[in-house]
Amino acid sequence: MKRPTIGILTWREGKKFAEPAYFRKLLKAGRELGCRVFLFSPKDVKAHEKQVKGYVLNEQGKWHGQLFDRPDAVFDRYRYTPTQAFKDYVAFRSKSSFLYVNNRLANKWRVHDVLVRDSRMHRWLPETWLYTRSKLATMLERHKILYVKPINGTGGRNILRVEKIGGGYRLLGRDKQRLKVSAMLTQLSAVQNWVDKWTKGQKYIVQQGLHLDLIPKRTIDMRLLIQKDGHGEWSITGHGIRIGGERSATSNLHGGGKAVPAATFLRPHFGEDDTARIVKDCEALAQQTAESLEAHFGRMVEFGLDIGIDASGRAWLIEVNPKPGREIFSQMGDKERYQKAIRRPLEYALFLARTNGQSQLRIHPIHARNKANG
Ligand SMILES: Nc1ncnc2c1ncn2[C@@H]1O[C@H](COP(=O)(O)OP(=O)(O)O)[C@@H](O)[C@H]1O
Ligand SMILES: [Mg+2]
Repeated sequence: MKRPTIGILTWREGKKFAEPAYFRKLLKAGRELGCRVFLFSPKDVKAHEKQVKGYVLNEQGKWHGQLFDRPDAVFDRYRYTPTQAFKDYVAFRSKSSFLYVNNRLANKWRVHDVLVRDSRMHRWLPETWLYTRSKLATMLERHKILYVKPINGTGGRNILRVEKIGGGYRLLGRDKQRLKVSAMLTQLSAVQNWVDKWTKGQKYIVQQGLHLDLIPKRTIDMRLLIQKDGHGEWSITGHGIRIGGERSATSNLHGGGKAVPAATFLRPHFGEDDTARIVKDCEALAQQTAESLEAHFGRMVEFGLDIGIDASGRAWLIEVNPKPGREIFSQMGDKERYQKAIRRPLEYALFLARTNGQSQLRIHPIHARNKANG
């Protein structure tokens, strides 16, 4: 039988790719699984998707392009950037008929809107609304801390935290270069003006702020990776706790956060039994989130979830990343899990290709009008 081929859809400019180090590992994992993996971008698709100019590594370890037949399955790894290239990708995806292992997900606001309709998700969802001046005011009446985040943001950029303290408000955030910003204001109207300027007419959400300072002055949350396995079932690959830098409103690893195993971190705070209960709850959250989103958006292959664990040990879903990194595992020195996290989407792609995409799920067309961030 012919060796199966798996295409990885990504951004390319010349022979520059979006995530070269990850893709090298992905190609290697493909070889070990007995399939051929190549990279391509929308402009590489020829002859009504019958052929693709795919990029692989030559013997010198350099990228080079060659013509491939239609891939047996495609893993979409095209990540959001505010560019024309991304718009071209969106147009391409809406008409492409490859067998995709993952659909696109919508922006943060739409994802929340879908999940909040599922009552099984309620206990894990912080209150969230689209930002307006008046929503900010009503939310500040209900919550001591708020987060204001762009609906299409990633990587801890443009995130602002507003906290009521004493007679005023403390603002702390990260701008689009992830630089820290802060301000102290006394009037609510001044806060509204400040946040209006911060959001500059773009769409933002305003979210109930969680008390994630299990260590004072730090933001701590869990990153959990849930992936399809080689039988098409959701399975939790692993998780870790991210500890944000001092006086940082975010815990993102790119923003200076550190990663440690969840149980190691949680036990001294909560003890053995509660730690086990919290971890189990996070896993239930992940399973339910994956099922709910897949039921709405169609076939998916993996999600990286940001889960807040507050001082009382309660788990909250902060964000769903449809094209997540795996660095949490390499950061914790867990090489085996890191490898597994790389391998799994390929195993699922092979499963799908074998069953010709006839697994239990039907693919729903993605709503063209959603501005997706994934
Ligand atoms: N509602 C919230 N309460 C407390 N911390 C939050 C909240 N929302 C975000 N954060 C912190 O900011 C980080 C980045 O927010 P997130 O929604 O994941 O956006 P991004 O897409 O930029 O990663 C989170 O990992 C968490 O540390
Ligand atoms: Mg995040």
